[in-house]
Amino acid sequence: MANSIFTKDGTAQGVAKQRLIETIAGPKKRIINDPYADKFVVGSGVIKLMGHRLNVWLTSKLAPGFHEHLISRTRFIDDLIEKSAKEGIEQYVILGAGYDSRANRLNLTPSLKIFEVDQPEVSDIKLSKLPKDLPNLENITYVNIDFSYQSLSEQLLTAGFDQTKSTIITLEGVSQYITKEAVISTIQELSLITKDARSIFFMSYVDELLNKDPSACFGKGYPNPSKKANLIQTLSAKVGEPWISFYRDEEIESILEENGYSMKENVTLEDLNSLYFSPVGRALPENKIFKLEHFIVAESRL
Ligand SMILES: C[S@@+](CC[C@H](N)C(=O)[O-])C[C@H]1O[C@@H](n2cnc3c(N)ncnc32)[C@H](O)[C@@H]1O
Repeated sequence: MANSIFTKDGTAQGVAKQRLIETIAGPKKRIINDPYADKFVVGSGVIKLMGHRLNVWLTSKLAPGFHEHLISRTRFIDDLIEKSAKEGIEQYVILGAGYDSRANRLNLTPSLKIFEVDQPEVSDIKLSKLPKDLPNLENITYVNIDFSYQSLSEQLLTAGFDQTKSTIITLEGVSQYITKEAVISTIQELSLITKDARSIFFMSYVDELLNKDPSACFGKGYPNPSKKANLIQTLSAKVGEPWISFYRDEEIESILEENGYSMKENVTLEDLNSLYFSPVGRALPENKIFKLEHFIVAESRL
């Protein structure tokens, strides 16, 4: 990761900002609630004063649908985690956890053991900003890693990961920032340490078409797809975290297959728009659909 004034947490802050913007929509209009997001966002007071609608409008001037895309990803994983926890999953590994506070903000069973994995610089800032009396804190273990050179299985096992327990793993908004080799070895290591118990794997990835056929990554009639594709990547690079890895659907499916996982779902905002946003009167029209990142769920074949 390149050096920048954002000291490794630029994109983690960016996602937390969208969660803050969604949270201030209020209980009847929002589709997720993150009461901790404001702790991580520079200028959170101003964002709150501006309110939800103005912030979403400003974000949509940069890229229509960007806010809804990120928030649908959050909600999709929230639902997946709550459902898996209800079904009795025993461990939850959050890879590249950043400033995600799912472990604290969802109503998860106290028996669920959670591992938050990220670069030490990011986890340290996170812990320094979170309240000391967080819900569920005793069930969370913070695990340091740099995916580029450290072994995930070694780090997890040292931190107390139990290979005999069923596990759900999420890799949310991370795969575009690390090499394909790092993603593949992460999945290989996960498949090895979870081979004796059920495991579910969530991953988001950016479509290879983003730079080959940008219009395929947005809804029909989306304004200036090529310009927006460049802008989004330029902004991420500017905060020190350039997008370096892109995938084809079949490529992801075959990486998963080779490691004992079967793909169960592969969706984008296009699939989730009416499911999540229609009930709160916020469904986006086709020409604002931002669908360059896919959300997939795979299950281990035991
Ligand atoms: C866009 S943020 C996503 C954070 C969180 N998953 C979310 O959605 O709110 C990307 C995260 O990946 C982590 N990350 C990026 N490169 C990494 C690496 N080489 N090793 C470990 N973590 C990394 C960053 O520290 C950051 O927390």
